Amino acid sequence: MVKTRMIQRILFVCLGNICRSPAAEGVMRVQMPDLQIDSAGTSGWHVGDPPYGPMQKAAALRGVDLSDLRARAFTAQDFAAFDLIVAMDADNVAAIEALRPSQNATPVRLFTAYENGPETHVPDPYYTRDFEGALDLIERCAAGLKGQLRRQ
Ligand code: 4NP
Repeated sequence: MVKTRMIQRILFVCLGNICRSPAAEGVMRVQMPDLQIDSAGTSGWHVGDPPYGPMQKAAALRGVDLSDLRARAFTAQDFAAFDLIVAMDADNVAAIEALRPSQNATPVRLFTAYENGPETHVPDPYYTRDFEGALDLIERCAAGLKGQLRRQ
């Protein structure tokens, strides 16, 4: 049997790193405090910014504190720094894959792949304004990911 390496370092990625991926990071930090978890954006538009105010507020009401997080841009070095990269939508996956170093085999997965529903991506509440719906979905995806990691 081939023994795969334990997943202990997970990077969540979205476009701006101020709404979806910091929310995913915050939820997973609460769910699995022993893991090393970070988030990044495929764009550098908001580097250094805290998570978007309405998302921070909605997350705080669920007991998830995002206030210490600051946006950063995804880089090619992240492929070596993490065991698993989790993207919010297919555009994120394409932008991530465009930076993959040759020989690197770090898995890149859609967050919604861990949830048993019809969702194919995490809709961006920066545009939809549906912060509750995004957090509901993020929490379901996080629960699914947690279940899979527990079985590893
Ligand atoms: P995120 O949402 O990718 O979930 O952080 C966005 C936030 C800001 C912008 C785009 C997406 N923006 O264009 O500034």
